[in-house]
Amino acid sequence: MSPEELVASAVKVRENACAAYSNYKVGAALLAASGKVYTGCNVENSTYGLTVCAERVALWKALSEGERSFTKIAVVTSSEPPASPCGACRQLLWEFCGNIEITLANLKGFRKTLRLSEIFPRPFDQSALD
Ligand code: THU
Repeated sequence: MSPEELVASAVKVRENACAAYSNYKVGAALLAASGKVYTGCNVENSTYGLTVCAERVALWKALSEGERSFTKIAVVTSSEPPASPCGACRQLLWEFCGNIEITLANLKGFRKTLRLSEIFPRPFDQSALD
């Protein structure tokens, strides 16, 4: 699957964002090694702190369906340039997806594809616990 097809899924799911507090909609589409795409949007609520990012919603959906291996994720925002995943999402993507390919995109056609290690160097992970 091309990064552009993944971006299209993220653009679509972004419309479902529950972003009443920030008005900042985010969509994510995570490609599993199985070939299935798991999408997620950000979900905000009145306590603010319980907000969940689009990337984690996609990841939780995939993990809960039994997926354990991932190859790519696309994240779409309206920002110029587009936003990249927050620190919490970087940690979780590293933990469950490894050095995954990430395409950052916005609605105006901006695309930047990189590896997670480029935005998340020197991670803490299970290797430190061995
Ligand atoms: N957000 C995401 O869903 N993903 C990101 O990568 C950055 C931030 C959400 C959280 C919150 O609902 C809104 O964007 C503003 O921070």
